[in-house]
Amino acid sequence: MAILTINTWVEHFVERLERAEGLDGPADKVISLTQRWLKPGRVKNLLSGTGTGHPAHPILVLLPLGLWASGFYLDVRSVSEDRTAARRLIGMGNLAVLPAVLTGLSDWADTQGAERRVGLVHAGLNVTALALFTSSWLARSDRHQRAGVVATALGMGTVSAAGWLGGHLAYARGVGVDTTAFEVPPADWIDVAAAKDVSDDRPLRVDAGVVAVLLIRDQDKVVAISDRCTHRGGPLHEGTIDKGCVTCPWHGSQFRLADGQVAKGPATRPQPTLEVRIIDGRVHVRATTDEPGTLRRNPATATSESSRSTDRSRN
Ligand code: FES
Repeated sequence: MAILTINTWVEHFVERLERAEGLDGPADKVISLTQRWLKPGRVKNLLSGTGTGHPAHPILVLLPLGLWASGFYLDVRSVSEDRTAARRLIGMGNLAVLPAVLTGLSDWADTQGAERRVGLVHAGLNVTALALFTSSWLARSDRHQRAGVVATALGMGTVSAAGWLGGHLAYARGVGVDTTAFEVPPADWIDVAAAKDVSDDRPLRVDAGVVAVLLIRDQDKVVAISDRCTHRGGPLHEGTIDKGCVTCPWHGSQFRLADGQVAKGPATRPQPTLEVRIIDGRVHVRATTDEPGTLRRNPATATSESSRSTDRSRN
């Protein structure tokens, strides 16, 4: 019962936050400043984690959090009277925060609406926590141990609240998640278009069951990839085609048409591709492989259910 009450209160709070349009002004200002120095390119790719296949921010927050938590642990256990070790750990945590800040800023700059508002509060809490840990380190350096311990405890509470909001962004709002993760393309061939309507410079959007698919000719072959950008769900058919790649209209990620691989970030995950065949001038598509992912194999829609049955019959 207590858990239910806390959960309801927290949900109510975060819902109000997501709808707080008053946060849009400050959020937009910080993001437009960020976008002024952070253009699509190598630095943006690095901060997004494009080369590693997953967003970089979640892993980079572990280091400062671990260092701060270790300093806090030493305080709680009172392991050392002079608390030098705790001070050093907190100082190292303050330095290790920079990559986490930069990657978080980069990810946040690509959000909109509710995610952008929650991200602003997430960032604000983290800045507050950093200020507390910095004042803790300074107080300890001046031998004001008690003030340092109090500031560390407050910093841990603040960074935990920030972490909860970060979790909400990822697990409830899907920031950083491959937006095609739950797409279930048909397992059996489905007729989607006339072959003559597929050009080599204008993407054609079609529906394959419940999945939006982009068709294009690449080196005289018709290729099909998911139309929903894996980064934040941008409509790729509104993008541009150049040198065997499609560029997303939202944040400029590029995907190779031949295999869906990421040619340029900020996307970190490739676009799902579909098998294509042409019969009597009609384009047919189907899922490329038997899907190993459990969530994709347990779709909720009727169309997907029929896909799953067909999938079983293919095995
Ligand atoms: S939605 Fe961000 S690059 Fe496509």
